[in-house]
Amino acid sequence: MSSTLVHLVDIPQRGDARGQLAVAELGGALPFPVRRVYWIHGTTPGVSRGFHAHKKLRQLCVCVAGSVRMSLFDGRREESVILDSHAKGLLIGPGLWREMHDFSPDCVLMVFASTEYDEGDYIRDRDQFIRHVAG
Ligand code: TYD
Repeated sequence: MSSTLVHLVDIPQRGDARGQLAVAELGGALPFPVRRVYWIHGTTPGVSRGFHAHKKLRQLCVCVAGSVRMSLFDGRREESVILDSHAKGLLIGPGLWREMHDFSPDCVLMVFASTEYDEGDYIRDRDQFIRHVAG
């Protein structure tokens, strides 16, 4: 088992005197080809999201504005990390229960995903997830 559930990658910054430019590309910050991009923004104050795991999907989450706390659980241990930088990405592989809490009002969370949307890849029941990772 990995020593940490939180895998952060540096997003290369190519800003200059004109302003900021950040790059996520295959072989750089992105360890997988991207088939889908979505972003979460305008989150209702106090709302938490997620509460699911994936069987196969890989994701890179970048909080390009504001902040959010990501909670990861592998069936035994839970770890949290605050994403508040456009220069850091959180890699989430399969077999991790994720929750998103404490969205700032200005939070924009970009998610780069390895597959198209597939409801069949989701595990939305926590007890079912625990059984899934147990074997
Ligand atoms: P949901 O999985 O509930 O979001 P979260 O995990 O952030 O709480 O997704 C909200 C809705 O959007 C749900 O009806 C499924 C749909 N959806 C898509 O159609 N495509 C996508 O890529 C994603 C992530 C969600």
